[in-house]
Amino acid sequence: MDVMKLIFATNNKHKHEEVQKLVGDSIKLATPSDFGITEDIPENQNTLEGNALEKARYIFSKTGVSCFADDTGLEVRALNGEPGVYSARYAGTGKDNNANIELLLENLQGITDRTARFRTVIALIINGKEFLFEGIVAGEILLKKTGEGGFGYDPVFKPDGYEISFAQMSLNEKNDISHRGRAVAKLAEFLHQNEKL
Ligand code: IMP
Repeated sequence: MDVMKLIFATNNKHKHEEVQKLVGDSIKLATPSDFGITEDIPENQNTLEGNALEKARYIFSKTGVSCFADDTGLEVRALNGEPGVYSARYAGTGKDNNANIELLLENLQGITDRTARFRTVIALIINGKEFLFEGIVAGEILLKKTGEGGFGYDPVFKPDGYEISFAQMSLNEKNDISHRGRAVAKLAEFLHQNEKL
């Protein structure tokens, strides 16, 4: 079996392991640090697409190796798509999950439309060509935090068709339906179909 090598442009070890599991053994994901890149990868754009492309282009320009990057946001309808691309730093640059959730619940106080979705965009650069993949999971924002698992906004996000929050699901259950799981599945399908690209 030929193994395809790609850099996944993240320094988050947990995410790296999770995505490696999702793409399967025939695709070997390297890290930026395998190529001596240990600094924060720049993400200065105001869209998920822009950030994913910026990160992938940064790694490709430094290494010349095919690579991909992802960016995710929670988009809340009644807040005109906020926090969106600013999800990690909604309540400030500290990336404090609890503070982000508190602010979200505060901004939704008294609002009955709690429709929201997580959206992940993956930018792939393979042999210099760029491709984008998107994964979406629709749901709603709960009135209060529920469940202990997961990370980020998981305790207040209930996916459509379920009566529990993301924070009450096992990782496998969440990956099956999540924004990131769906985007990575599209990426993996593309890579498997285009192994000779
Ligand atoms: P990233 O682009 O994957 O780093 O995600 C940006 C931010 O979106 C994170 O810091 C979290 O606040 C939020 N986020 C992304 N994915 C999830 C998820 O699966 N559950 C809950 N929050 C998430």
